[in-house]
Amino acid sequence: MSPSAACRFQWSRRIAPLAITALAIVLASAVPASADFIDDLTRLDAALQANAARVGAPAVLSCQARRHSAVRLYEAGEITRAERSLKFCWTILGISETEAMAVPAEPPGPTAEELEARANREFQAAMVLTPNPTNGLKAFRECTGCHTTEGWGLKGGTVPQIAGQHRTVLIKQLADIRAGNRDAFVMVPYASVDSIGGPQAVADVAAYIESLEISVDNSKGPGRDLERGQQLYAENCVRCHGSNGEGDAAAHVPRIHAQHFNYLVRQFQWIRDGKRRNANAEMIDQIQRFGDEDVSAVLDYVSRLVPPEALQAPPGWKNPDFAQ
Ligand code: HEC
Ligand code: HEC
Repeated sequence: MSPSAACRFQWSRRIAPLAITALAIVLASAVPASADFIDDLTRLDAALQANAARVGAPAVLSCQARRHSAVRLYEAGEITRAERSLKFCWTILGISETEAMAVPAEPPGPTAEELEARANREFQAAMVLTPNPTNGLKAFRECTGCHTTEGWGLKGGTVPQIAGQHRTVLIKQLADIRAGNRDAFVMVPYASVDSIGGPQAVADVAAYIESLEISVDNSKGPGRDLERGQQLYAENCVRCHGSNGEGDAAAHVPRIHAQHFNYLVRQFQWIRDGKRRNANAEMIDQIQRFGDEDVSAVLDYVSRLVPPEALQAPPGWKNPDFAQ
């Protein structure tokens, strides 16, 4: 293992237990526990985070997709197929099964307060630095494999659109993810200090991403219950996210307009159910009584909100920094 891979590996040992514990709880409540499958999943998560063979972003995403489908198969009681699906991930990650077996037991990780404090230190440090656009573009190259060169993410919603997001929000989310105060483990190796650098790089890449044009060709919801969605939005969301979903830069409330529908749903449910550690406590309170149909209706409405025209990418726009 190279020194930088070793460092990423150390990092992964701190946040892996949280993700794994959450998953183990979900699995344990759904079906009788199969220790073998959970063991395999635990090792795979550690390997995904460490990415010791430094495989590219598409491989990491493809392994993550297999991991999701393995969990679904497992929940449906198809244990053998679930295990086979996981097994192929090792090949994708370029790791032999013997190496995979050698992942040591996890030491106890930092507390939630420590993670938050660590994230907050980097947030405060990055916020006062003057961004360097040249370095912002250089760091952004690490992100394009998943977020695309335009920063528009994937319509399926696994990867969010980040183009045009407020700089303050980008800095906060990056600081949270880097500190382990928000789980986005496929992204961690690419957004780490090893990959892009310290708070200055966070300030640089955030300013670069904020300057990108926003795509309004994002994926939308099913369009069935938009009136109800509009009403729920007016009653529960406007005061923080604004009448067009534009958020609030000063209070680092995210833009949520023109975001991919499935991404919105996943984040919203994680926030409601307490699975996103960095969530806003007041928002959690506000949305507690939202059932699945309310969630779908309000986020369908949100996915159709658009930013002001000046921020929208014109048809056919491509990021000029990546033109051949
Ligand atoms: C391997 C794929 C991958 C790479 C590379 C990647 N990301 Fe991500 N990113 C993701 C995924 C997946 C999520 C959503 C995580 C979740 O569901 O919570 C995400 C989420 C984010 C978010 C949170 C967005 C929000 O709306 O809250 C930000 C900000 C972000 N990425 C920035 C970056 C930056 C900057 C880089 C490059 C330095 C980068 N990402 C590299 C996959 C990636
Ligand atoms: C009290 C203010 C407040 C209210 C009310 C509120 N939110 Fe939020 N919301 C926030 C903040 C702040 C964040 C970012 C939290 C963080 O830092 O991670 C957020 C995050 C989100 C995200 C995740 C965005 C992303 O890019 O990852 C979604 C989706 C969202 N809110 C939707 C809603 C919807 C829909 C409603 C109404 C039903 C709502 N919120 C009500 C403050 C609020």
